Amino acid sequence: MAAQSDTRPPGARPIPGPPAKPVVGNLLDLPSGRTIQTIVDLAARYGPMMHLTMLGQDLFVASGLEMFDDLCDETRFAKFVARPQKVMGTALPTRGLFTADSDDPLWKSAHEILLPAFSQRSIQGYHPMMVDIAEQLLLKWERLNPGEAVDVTADMTRLTLDTIALCGFGYRFNSFYRDTAHPFVQAMRTMLDESQAQLRIPGPVDRLRTRAHRRFAAAIELMTDTVQAIIDERRTSGEAGQDLLGRMLDGVDKAGLSLPDRDIVSQCITFLVAGHETTSGLLSFAVHYLTKNPAVAARAQAEVDEVLGTDLSVAPTAAQVGKLTYVPQILEETLRLWPTAPAFFRRPLEDTSVGGYEFRAGTPIMALSTALHRRPEIWGPDAAQFDPDHFDPARRSDIPPNAYKPFGTGARACIGRQFALQEAILVLAMVLQRFDLVDHAGYQLKIKESITIKPDGLTITLRPRGGRTTGQTPRAAATPVTTPQTRPAPVPPADRHGTPLLVLFGSNLGAAEDLATRIARDGTDRGWATTLAPLDDRVGAVRMGEASPSRADLPTEGAVVVVTASYNGMPPDNAAGFCDWLRGDTASAAGVR
Ligand code: HEM
Repeated sequence: MAAQSDTRPPGARPIPGPPAKPVVGNLLDLPSGRTIQTIVDLAARYGPMMHLTMLGQDLFVASGLEMFDDLCDETRFAKFVARPQKVMGTALPTRGLFTADSDDPLWKSAHEILLPAFSQRSIQGYHPMMVDIAEQLLLKWERLNPGEAVDVTADMTRLTLDTIALCGFGYRFNSFYRDTAHPFVQAMRTMLDESQAQLRIPGPVDRLRTRAHRRFAAAIELMTDTVQAIIDERRTSGEAGQDLLGRMLDGVDKAGLSLPDRDIVSQCITFLVAGHETTSGLLSFAVHYLTKNPAVAARAQAEVDEVLGTDLSVAPTAAQVGKLTYVPQILEETLRLWPTAPAFFRRPLEDTSVGGYEFRAGTPIMALSTALHRRPEIWGPDAAQFDPDHFDPARRSDIPPNAYKPFGTGARACIGRQFALQEAILVLAMVLQRFDLVDHAGYQLKIKESITIKPDGLTITLRPRGGRTTGQTPRAAATPVTTPQTRPAPVPPADRHGTPLLVLFGSNLGAAEDLATRIARDGTDRGWATTLAPLDDRVGAVRMGEASPSRADLPTEGAVVVVTASYNGMPPDNAAGFCDWLRGDTASAAGVR
């Protein structure tokens, strides 16, 4: 938020909003603990661009698709580090990925070093550790007495914290073996609550809160010491490892620079915070919706039984998790209604307009995904209803590109998105494989707000499902899923037709290159004359130093297959020139098949 006169040019089109009181503005309209929910309600009343003020600062709230189309344009807007993030970031030894400004050189280094740790390949490598922690949750639930209630959010928080700590740093919090939260978790909660609390407290009053500041400083110290001990232990072990910590200790960015120790501490804390709060909220909301929608739960259980089978002694493989389609739809729909990071902030790089409203460069604008995700003009008349078929594959192409933003946008979008989804799909599938989830107390959804949102006070009971076995039935009950897929027998040399097949890839982290290689190999087996190359190999002009290549070398004989990843809309390094060419005036693929 910023002082009023800095935010909009004189004579700019007025933005509707509720009347503000002197000094406090709209602060009293936004009750503590219901701030986000109230802003969502107000946005429904005042429209897709709304103006609030809090303690003399403007708060602009965007929730319409035309506003998101502007705010997600990376050439005109960037992340704005909002107050709670700033409070957290400045308290840590360095800012950390989540709280850094985009021009912070440490953000760039850490982003480059850590990105490979979130590639599809790396995430498959975390799968056994994800299963390890999921089994601890299930063991706890299996041992409950009949009818004993489960505190869903507390257990999902144990699960997600232990998962990110084990996959990221090889550290076990052992949360399922404790009655009370680990001291690190308590410290983290203090940090998050205080960062949020400072939003509502005027500066002079805040300076008098010495006890709260001491508690906050002690929490940061405890977290810093815990993480430093984990780093020291890893260093003395002599093996850096391939997890997040290993990559930070050993890795270098594109300029060959490594991360300073102080930054590694901040990044570790960032991952522990960012990596568990949101995913545990997602899983808890999903459980709530499943208890209230038995038909959805039954359809998901049928899918899980078909793909994972009914033998509970066999842990799911990563490939099986990848075969599930309806369980991911449930999670996507859950994040539509309750994106557990309910909003993010953007700022214009220069004076510009957002959905037809003019703003000065640098003005913070809240992108309220929670409200965007409920717009009937995007999601239909049943936008407020939970229905995973909003993400039915047949309807997916109707969803406009910027209509669904639970993971933020652009270069600063969530680096842990695939990690979170892989973990959540696995856990929900394993839960559904074993239990019917029972709403024993007629739970009415109540939201607990901090930096993230979660269901408050959600308890359920569990009914073990019938027809399960533990090791006595052959695995054939499940759909056989193997990886890699079996290859067809190669055609004999005499039958090779030799038609040219050019397979081009764009890939930073290897997944798209793997797929392209498989296609090329299958092509060769089927008698094609195959060539495999990075996309940029086909824009020779780039090598000659042209800013934007004027020609691409694509054959008109035979077939061309392009396989490319994109990172939040940006091309991989070895496809950047090709994309420039595609965007240019001379791009033509006439005759290319
Ligand atoms: C359902 C789960 C999750 C949701 C909804 C979520 C949501 C988000 C959102 C909206 C942002 C952008 C924030 C902004 O623009 O200010 C973000 C950033 C981030 N998330 Fe997540 N997240 C989830 C899980 C995870 C996990 C599992 C990890 C780590 C393993 C993670 C690590 C991060 C980090 C490090 C950033 C900052 C990225 C950067 O700016 O470079 N998140 N997340």
